[in-house]
Amino acid sequence: MQPETNSTSLRQSWQQFRSLHIDPLERRWITVTLLAIGLMVGIMSVDALWHGVNPPSKVEVIDSASLHLGGEFAEDNMGVQVGNDGKMTVRVVAGRYGFFPKHLRLPAGKPVTFRWASLDVLHGVHIPMTNMSTMIVPGYVAEITTTFPNPGEYPLLCNEYCGLGHNHMWSTVSVVDPDDWQAAPATGAQP
Ligand code: CUA
Repeated sequence: MQPETNSTSLRQSWQQFRSLHIDPLERRWITVTLLAIGLMVGIMSVDALWHGVNPPSKVEVIDSASLHLGGEFAEDNMGVQVGNDGKMTVRVVAGRYGFFPKHLRLPAGKPVTFRWASLDVLHGVHIPMTNMSTMIVPGYVAEITTTFPNPGEYPLLCNEYCGLGHNHMWSTVSVVDPDDWQAAPATGAQP
């Protein structure tokens, strides 16, 4: 009867813990500390749910060394593409020390799915004021869907140290009014 044994020993440990002498002052500080931890974890959880922050869920592997030779991240397929169903996908390759394509133009208020791949080492991407913040691990595709709330220039930064040029690794996203935005015609085959 394994479960009963576990619950008995759990109860015993709890009773042992209860019978410990803990100074009232110490007990108070333990409570304060636990409340502070609970408050912080609570704020982080609510904020993550509210802004839709989550780790990239699908683990997709890719050969980082041959990205340029064909397939999804070949030069012709990079940048913004709009599928037949109207869904917007942006493919960006991160490499020391830049994001390719360098500049993106996107509409405000529409969901955009970003797919990121690294061609060399570990990079990261962060776009302030959005939920976009992920590592770009060589050998894997990172996918995150985001919506830019307002038109404007958004910085796009590498946030993982990737070498001596790391602090030069940034680019911009121009977010425009959806009425002013037109997708560049897709130049390559849809993967
Ligand atoms: Cu790429 Cu830091």
